[in-house]
Amino acid sequence: MILQPLKIGDLTIQRPIIQGGMGVGISRSSLAGAVSYEGGLGIISTAQIGYDEPGFDTDQNKANLEAIRKHVKRAKEISHGRPVGVNVMVALKNYEAHVRTAIEAGADVIISGAGLPVHLPKYTKGTGCKIAPIVSSVKAAELILRNWEKKYNCTADFVVIEGPKAGGHLGFKKEQVTLISDDEYDSEIKSIIKTVKLYSSKFNKEIPVVVAGGIFDYNDICHAISLGASGVQIASRFVATYECDACDEYKQTYIDAKEDDIVIVMSPVGMPGRAIENEFVRRIKENPISVSRCFNCLEKCNPAKVPYCITKALINAVEGNLDEGLIFAGSNVGRINKIVSVHELMDELVKESIKVSNIA
Ligand SMILES: Cc1cc2nc3c(=O)[nH]c(=O)nc-3n(C[C@H](O)[C@H](O)[C@H](O)COP(=O)(O)O)c2cc1C
Repeated sequence: MILQPLKIGDLTIQRPIIQGGMGVGISRSSLAGAVSYEGGLGIISTAQIGYDEPGFDTDQNKANLEAIRKHVKRAKEISHGRPVGVNVMVALKNYEAHVRTAIEAGADVIISGAGLPVHLPKYTKGTGCKIAPIVSSVKAAELILRNWEKKYNCTADFVVIEGPKAGGHLGFKKEQVTLISDDEYDSEIKSIIKTVKLYSSKFNKEIPVVVAGGIFDYNDICHAISLGASGVQIASRFVATYECDACDEYKQTYIDAKEDDIVIVMSPVGMPGRAIENEFVRRIKENPISVSRCFNCLEKCNPAKVPYCITKALINAVEGNLDEGLIFAGSNVGRINKIVSVHELMDELVKESIKVSNIA
């Protein structure tokens, strides 16, 4: 199969691969810029993106907004102006400010999930920035698209379908995650695409659909396209790249992980998440870790009641304090066995079927 570019309105992504947003600090400007330079669409996650900025300890919101500006600009420099996107989780505090700041800084695309991004069009109206909800079911797709039509008389520029094999937070009930078969989810994907097509006709515009979760290689990309998708979103594979913004110890955990090391944990976000089993995961299974300070990350969180602080756990991980950190990963992490450059990975993923001309 010859892969075709992914067209999102007037944007052309030469290779139909979106690198999934990864917080905290895993996909910032180095990774996202490199992926976009290689002809994919690099995505920066805004989740506590300013964790290492001066002033983060006293004012997380200010530090995060500064870091959004800095990383979007830097990613666009690395990509030589090729499109770069930003992932903003609905569950975050200051959601609107993250979206608006990313657009002001030059983000071409906003992808939003971990909740229903029902007000996203209000914040992006008139900016030309492309928007996509992340959905895991027909029900969620219908709800968001119906809402956007009714309230804002607009629709998505593209849709990301995230399946049960993804890393990080999952849009499924904990008990569903491991029970859904590949065939069952393929049929859900087809139904979501059907729903999206209705809105495509209503608004007389193409709405490409991108499939995420457990996409490992060229054959998986071809499979997603055979279901009717126009591209894929891949995250875990990009962690094992030189350009990924995580520290080397984090990347090594990916290389060392075996299939049996994958676990589903409950997150204070209120969703299950897929992670690599480690000391931290074993500890929270036994006992909650009381929260000594709040980093103001989630709109809805009661620090006195959650089993651990998600921000603290994710910052520990990205900084290499792995025994006290939560390491999110997709179901295929056991198959990743070496660190490569984004250039090599992108070439491998498309089987070199689409060459990208380098910009000097
Ligand atoms: C380390 C890690 C962090 C993630 N963080 C986010 C995030 O901040 N926001 C989000 O919407 N999805 C997040 N995800 C989900 C990815 O963007 C992506 O959709 C998913 O992992 C795709 O599955 P794959 O990892 O099997 O390719 C994260 C995934 C990983 C592995």
